This record gives sequence, C-alpha cells and structure tokens, in this order.
Amino acid sequence: MTKSIELCILAAGKGSRMKSARPKALQLLAGRPLLEHLLTTAKSLTAGNTHVVIGSGAELVRKQFPDLNLNFVEQSQQLGTGHAVQQVVPHLGNGRVLILLGDAPLVSRASLESLLSADCDLGVLTVDHPEPFNYGRIVRSGDQIEAIVEERDTSDQQKKIKEINTGVMVADANQLKDWLSELSSDNAQSEYLLTDIVGIANRAGRRVAAVKAKDHREVQGVNNYEQLAELERFYQECAVRDLQSRGVQIVDPDRFNLRGELTTGQDVCIDVNCIFEGRVKLGNNVKIGANSIVRNAEIGDGTEIKPFSHIDGAILENDCSVGPFARLRPGTYFEAEVAVGNFVEIKKSRLGVGSKASHLSYLGDATIGSKVNVGAGAITCNYDGVNKFETHIEDGVFVGTNVSLVAPVTLGEWSTIAAGSTITTDVPTKSLGVGRGKQRNIDGWKGPRDK
Ligand code: UD1
Ligand code: CA
Repeated sequence: MTKSIELCILAAGKGSRMKSARPKALQLLAGRPLLEHLLTTAKSLTAGNTHVVIGSGAELVRKQFPDLNLNFVEQSQQLGTGHAVQQVVPHLGNGRVLILLGDAPLVSRASLESLLSADCDLGVLTVDHPEPFNYGRIVRSGDQIEAIVEERDTSDQQKKIKEINTGVMVADANQLKDWLSELSSDNAQSEYLLTDIVGIANRAGRRVAAVKAKDHREVQGVNNYEQLAELERFYQECAVRDLQSRGVQIVDPDRFNLRGELTTGQDVCIDVNCIFEGRVKLGNNVKIGANSIVRNAEIGDGTEIKPFSHIDGAILENDCSVGPFARLRPGTYFEAEVAVGNFVEIKKSRLGVGSKASHLSYLGDATIGSKVNVGAGAITCNYDGVNKFETHIEDGVFVGTNVSLVAPVTLGEWSTIAAGSTITTDVPTKSLGVGRGKQRNIDGWKGPRDK
C-alpha cells in the first residue's frame, strides 16, 4: 500500500448502449455494482485520495457509496474521458495518479501493480485482444506507444492492430495536468479523448510505455448487456477455479453463481444452478442440491440441502436435512440433526436437536425443543394483523397433522396435539390437547345422490 498514489475513476457515463435508467456504474456484476468491484481492488492498492467522476445518475451513485471516503467530482456534461479527468485536476496533489475506467471493473490487482512499477512518464495498461473492434488501438514504435487511435479514427491498417487500450493509465499529476490542458475535441467523436494525451506526451519527448495485462477478459469494458454477461461468466469462472483449488466439487462450472463470499470446508459438493449471496459458510461434507439459493447462512458439517431450497439468514448446525422445496427465512436456527422437508417455511425460529417438520408447515416466531415432531399442515398462527406472538413447543412434543397453534401458546414437554386441532391455550406436560369439533355420524342419511 502506498499513500502517494491518487485514484481517478471515470464513472460519469450514462452507458447509453445499455438503454437502462440506472447509471452504468451501478449495473450489477455478481450481485454488486460495477463500481464497487473496482473500488475494492483499487483501494487495496493505495491509501491515497480516491476521486470518482460522476455525472449521469450522480445522486444514485453517491447514495450507493456513503462511507468509503470518496471524493465525488461532478462532470455535468459528458464531453469525453479526457474532459472527465480534467474535472479532477483542481483536486490533485503532486504525486502519481492512477486513472481507471468505472466500466472495466475486474482489472486485477496484479495488473495494476505491474503498471505502477513501470519506469515511464505515462504508463498505459494494454492487452492483446482477439476482437479489438471498438477499442482504442495501440500504435507503437518499439517500446514507445506513439498513439492510441479510437475505432472511428482508425485507418484500415490500424484496424488490424490487436493490442488495445484498457483505459487504465498512470502518470505524475503535474505532467498529466499539462497534457490535459492541450486536449481538443477536434476529432470524429467531437469529444476530449483521454487517449490523445499519448500523442501530446510523445510530442513533449516523454516516455510512454505499455504494460500488458495477461487476460483480455480481466480488462473487458462493459458497454452493453452482452459484454456484462460475458464479464459475469469470467467472474464466475474465476470463482469456480478458486473453489475447486480449495477442494470444492462444483458439478457444472457453467451453472454456478457466487454473489458474495463463500467459505467452505472439506468435501463440499454443489450441484447445478445454485446461487450463493452475501456471506455463506459451508462446513465439511455439506451438499447443496440443484437449484438452491443460499444467502447469508452458516451450514454445519454433514448437512444436506436438497434441491429447490431457499435459505436466507439461517444458521444450521451439523447433520441437518433441508428440503426439497424448503424455505428458511432470517432468524432460523437449527440445532444438530434437524430435518425439514418439502413446502416447509420457517422464520425467526429455533429448532432443537433432532426435531422434524417433514411436510407443509409454517413455523414463525417459535422456540421448539428437541425431538419434536411437527405434522404435515401444522402452522403457527403468529400474527393477528398488528402484532406478532411467540409459540413455545417443549421437548418431545408430537404435533399432529393440520394443527393451528394460535400464539402466544406453550405446548408442555411430551404433550401430544390431536390432528386437526386449533390450539388457543397452553397444553400441560404429557397431556393430549384436542381442540376440534366432535365427529358425528348420521345413520341412513340421504344425500343428493340418493333418489
Ligand atoms: C475507452 C477508451 C478506449 C478503450 C476503452 C476500454 C477513450 C477515449 N477511449 O473507450 O481507448 O479501448 O475505453 O474499455 O478513452 N466517462 C466519463 N465521462 C465522459 C466519458 C466517459 O466519466 O465524458 C467514463 C465512462 O463512464 C466509462 C469510461 O469513462 O466508465 C469509459 O468511457 P466509454 O465511453 O465507455 O469509453 P469507450 O468508448 O469504451
Ligand atoms: Ca467503455
């Protein structure tokens, strides 16, 4: 980390090719805004000032990053990348300035470090691109970059150049200020192009060097949804490689999505089409079934999440079983060996060791002891339309099918609740709670089918 490098991030563009109401900097990649990815990498490099040029949707961008100690600089009219950097000039000190494009969010720390260590007046991060169309082409004479030519200004010969400008540059603030003051908008775009400082620096006899990034996908710019999807896949591929190297089995790397941080134990297996969001921690021997979504959760050793489950804000201890088709909402806590099956929804509830709810239940605001069996169709009635109330189910309780537990209510240890009951008052320990209309059979009854 170095103090003297200032960051200048260009993020004022509207992203008109995305045809979105959202500013491009806030488009999501792996669940996070493009600008957030870039800020995370860039801020790990330097403790110097970070200037972010904003324009289109400026207020939205400011609101998204309230506490990162950023200096937002507004560019009221987007007159080009050179014009954008000109807006930052009054804020710059005398040190080095690293310029980054807000729409190239996955540039790696390693590439930025090698650019920063290049011995030159102006350093440009370039890359060999198999499809250089629409990128600025690097015109070289040996090691010296003589010019960067934008697509619209290229000759047929220059169109063939595969080395392109990633948009990332580094220079001393004072020289940068001089070069920027010489920019003009006399070009095919009628914009002040940052890339023109290369020609200007050449004319001043300065050394302009290229540092090449290794993978062109790392520096891919996002101008439309096609490129955003490509970059998303690249991000996911990198995430998969990382998880594989830590010993995680990902059944199909093309159908894996990480939108946050995933920590894993040994022998974890993730089936197809799973999405992980926020902070997720998986213990040893955890299995995540196909088409599951897991957000902000901790899942203990040996626990299996069966297909099509949705888990959000839950902590599960070891050897639990969830799903298929289960929904665990925030505040769910399972002690070891809890099992919930299909169409069970749980919210803000704790289930003790070995308790089960195998089918079709809603358990909300409940504290459930160990070895409890909740029958199919049993629900906690925890809400009266205004207030929420708690249900307490003590150890060993057997709740029959189709039971409504009207909270607040307590079911004492080892009590049994008869099927079909509506329970409105506490049930004592080891007793049977029955709350349903008595059955009557009418002999010889004549119904509509009888003549
Ligand atoms: C730019 C480069 C091109 C390079 C490519 C890499 C220039 C002139 N061209 O082209 O050489 O190959 O990136 O992806 O620099 N922005 C502002 N204010 C403006 C204009 C742009 O802040 O007035 C910001 C945008 O929000 C964006 C970035 O600068 O984050 C790049 O602008 P964009 O219009 O996307 O440039 P490209 O055409 O992609
Ligand atoms: Ca771009």
